[in-house]
Amino acid sequence: MEANGFCVENCRAVITGASSGLGAEFARQLAPQAELLVLVARRAEALEMVKKELSGLKAKVLCFVSDLAKDEGRDAVAAFLVENGIKPTLLINNAGMGDYGSFVSSSAEKTRSQIELNITALTMLTHALLPLMERPAGIVNVSSLASTLPMPDLAVYAASKAYVTSFSEALAIELAPENISVCCTCPGPTPTNFSKTAKREDGSDTNRDGQGLLRIPPAQVVRESLAALRHGQACVFPGVGVSIAGRVFRLMPRRLMRMILRRRARNA
Ligand SMILES: NC(=O)c1ccc[n+]([C@@H]2O[C@H](COP(=O)([O-])OP(=O)(O)OC[C@H]3O[C@@H](n4cnc5c(N)ncnc54)[C@H](OP(=O)(O)O)[C@@H]3O)[C@@H](O)[C@H]2O)c1
Repeated sequence: MEANGFCVENCRAVITGASSGLGAEFARQLAPQAELLVLVARRAEALEMVKKELSGLKAKVLCFVSDLAKDEGRDAVAAFLVENGIKPTLLINNAGMGDYGSFVSSSAEKTRSQIELNITALTMLTHALLPLMERPAGIVNVSSLASTLPMPDLAVYAASKAYVTSFSEALAIELAPENISVCCTCPGPTPTNFSKTAKREDGSDTNRDGQGLLRIPPAQVVRESLAALRHGQACVFPGVGVSIAGRVFRLMPRRLMRMILRRRARNA
């Protein structure tokens, strides 16, 4: 059974990674329609700036400072909702980070943080919040076009997003009978703070040739993601170029894909 889709009108949403980029844009697009937004991230000042920008719009906005890469931070979000009697109807698991450069030279700390944030936080926050969520409800998990590719010099990130896509599509089936729509969104390259965070101090990078062809603004990514949620789509690749690329990558024989990626890595 496919879900019917979730309408965000009057929703009570928890948005992770709402202090910049796609998370802040989710907040901007939801604020005129939602009843309540709970914005979560580590940087209090950046969250307050997003909140200020949304003042005067329909939604009441609360900021909650938390490091989601840690168990305590994740537990604190659920505790905050319970203490304040908030029953969310929409969870946007958006917080995430990358790390450009080879796996062998990566810092163990950054690699662990990536797994904690991209995989563990998304999974455990969903697990903790599902019992609190009032039905009908929606969940948007922010994956990536990278989830369809084994990406050299972005290996852990791409693998973590493959997890997000697979997990989300399974949850979409499990939760449809409970009237919860799950939508996994797989953006391509989008101008946010992502690259700044992913770059290492030594300047290591991943091959980003050709990304300009796929780039669309955050506003379009969010608009298409919320439309997919509304229509009960389990997975969306926002933007025409990314949508075509996503389909092609998903159908391509893995051996051919590895050959192309090997050549690309050699040319980097
Ligand atoms: N931009 C792209 O090209 C692109 C493409 C595909 C998918 N995505 C995905 O889109 C999502 C949003 O990224 P973005 O592009 O908007 O990048 P961004 O501008 O760097 O935003 C990342 C957000 O995550 C938050 N965050 C990072 N570490 C955190 C932690 N430990 N605890 C809590 N919050 C944390 C950051 O806030 P604080 O620093 O304040 O904590 C920030 O609000 C990510 O999942 C990313 O993988 C991005």
